[in-house]
Amino acid sequence: MKNIYKNSPKNLSKAKKILKKNNVIAVPTETVYGLAGNSYSDFAVKKIYKLKKRPKKNPLIIHYHSLSNLERDAHINDKFLNLYKKFSPGALTYILRKKRDSKISSLANGNLKSIAVRFPSNKTIRNLLKNLNFPLAIPSANISSNVSPTKAKDVFDEFGKKINFILDGGASKIGLESTVINLYGKVKILRPGAINPNQIKKVLKKKISILKKSKKINSPGLLKKHYSPGIPIKLNCKKSDKKAAFIVFGKKYKKTNNVFNLSRRGDLKEAGKNLYKMLRKIKNLKYKKINVVKIPNKNIGIAINDRLKRASK
Ligand code: TXA
Ligand code: MG
Repeated sequence: MKNIYKNSPKNLSKAKKILKKNNVIAVPTETVYGLAGNSYSDFAVKKIYKLKKRPKKNPLIIHYHSLSNLERDAHINDKFLNLYKKFSPGALTYILRKKRDSKISSLANGNLKSIAVRFPSNKTIRNLLKNLNFPLAIPSANISSNVSPTKAKDVFDEFGKKINFILDGGASKIGLESTVINLYGKVKILRPGAINPNQIKKVLKKKISILKKSKKINSPGLLKKHYSPGIPIKLNCKKSDKKAAFIVFGKKYKKTNNVFNLSRRGDLKEAGKNLYKMLRKIKNLKYKKINVVKIPNKNIGIAINDRLKRASK
């Protein structure tokens, strides 16, 4: 496809040029693919919101290469540093207090006092970030409320030619969004994700609560309908009829046409990686209904269940 560019030094410098002109491109990360733009530029940030048809109040995550770059934009605290040492670069997003003189566009963080920051581990995006003198605002590369893309072709299916540069870094290794943790005020998980609450608990040495209902802070991960393939989904099913797509987990299920196994060997990580891929596939196959078996609610299973629940709303 014309607008998908493989990861090469030549294409990386093309990507850099486009970003410097405050235009928007699609980029790979280890969690999901994202739409990237200069976070210092109102123009670029507006473009991202418009492309995604995203409510303006829904803040974006700012992506950095390293800690030294973050210091000019956010107030850093001890909890952050401990978590950073363990999980970054990687799939954890931190909510921190924004510095007054930060150059981050206030449109990017919905005019809040806080900003969300992440240090992605994917080599391609790290390489790009290293060569830019501004951090990138990168929300998932889907139209608001749709399923997030986990490969370059998914981004094309979502936006077609509206994005003229999609950087191909292969399939996302994790396949589910980062965990969002609030570190400005009460420590809380705002969006379950690739890093699970237990892992975080071990570092902070205290129990971490998961936010149930969104109040003022508007997180799309907390909006009712989200991550939706646009087909009715029924959860905790024991069996399914032939007309519905049946999403299962574990080895006891027959391999028939309408059965989509998240992980035959019962591996939650593998299931996390397959979830969005299968939801897209089921949608393309024009199923009218999806039934899903019960998925263990531990480790990354917490994030899988969170997404399924919202997709079913
Ligand atoms: O894995 C990921 O995090 C992907 C990849 C591309 O990095 N990005 C992603 O971004 O999922 P997005 O925009 O789809 O989701 C960002 C989440 C939303 O739930 C948003 O509300 C929350 O982060 N968020 C951003 N800034 C916030 C803030 N200041 N306070 C609370 N929540 C915030
Ligand atoms: Mg998203």
